Amino acid sequence: MAIAIIVPGRDVSLLKQHIENHLQGAAPVWVYPDIPDPDQVLMAVVWKHPPGSLLAFPHLRVVQSLGAGVEHLLRDPQLPGQARICRIVDPDLALGMCHYTAMAVLNIHKQWWQLQEQQAQGIWAEPVPEVVPLTIGVLGMGELGVPVAKTLRSLGFEVMGYSRTAKIVEGIRVFSEGELSAAAFAKKVNTLVCVLPLTPQTEGILNREVFEAMPRGSYIINIARGGHLVDADLLAALDAGNIERAVLDVFHIEPLPTEHPFWTHPKVTLTPHIASVTNQANAAALVAENYQRAVKGQDLKFPVDPGAGY
Ligand code: GLV
Repeated sequence: MAIAIIVPGRDVSLLKQHIENHLQGAAPVWVYPDIPDPDQVLMAVVWKHPPGSLLAFPHLRVVQSLGAGVEHLLRDPQLPGQARICRIVDPDLALGMCHYTAMAVLNIHKQWWQLQEQQAQGIWAEPVPEVVPLTIGVLGMGELGVPVAKTLRSLGFEVMGYSRTAKIVEGIRVFSEGELSAAAFAKKVNTLVCVLPLTPQTEGILNREVFEAMPRGSYIINIARGGHLVDADLLAALDAGNIERAVLDVFHIEPLPTEHPFWTHPKVTLTPHIASVTNQANAAALVAENYQRAVKGQDLKFPVDPGAGY
């Protein structure tokens, strides 16, 4: 039996080497499209695989996403039905999300953009207001959202969470979808951080209704997926002043097309999907472990519920 790595356009030599080190020759590790014997492939390790490419493996049992998100897999109509999908759950991935969100929130709170503008103009002055008071709502209270919310809380911000199901998280009030609509939740905060999985229910959740519910001059931070955001609604809300600034790491199309208005909008700060990047060594350890579990017929680590979408 073998493992196929399907990550088009990226150098995966380090990942392959780490997996081979863990498996000590127990299974060959092939890199797509160079798969000598598709019949042998028991596990595929994927990120943005060409849709339909997994059908080439009749004995596929595990599809391991190289990211926390799996919508790229669940949206492939030609996903082999017999294969279980697993995702990455890794404290290092969560830590990257915490760092990025803290960076964005602290820059907003401390008026970083205004201070940079002042430097450019040679102005020595306290910004006005000195700091921006923030009440932060975290959309999505899972493996990533909870650490993000706790990090922001530990920095002294008032934080609340929003989640599909009811949850108890120490020190953070979590509202469930059944309790409040997303817009009613948004009304309670002036900063929204989106860490949701992308599912048919969460697609477009950052929309006009939500932006209009927030107090004037609010902030949006999206580190989940571009599909959560209705771009035109955000642009309108930024121009109308409902939203003061957006910090965006993810987009409908990546790389973000050069002609997209986000690139030059003065109230948008964008980064190229780097909020947190999968640690290859940690991913390789998980791949090797799930491969061994699959061979022994044991439960896999971090399986996805296709119905829930994460
Ligand atoms: C990255 O976007 C991930 O899903 O881990």
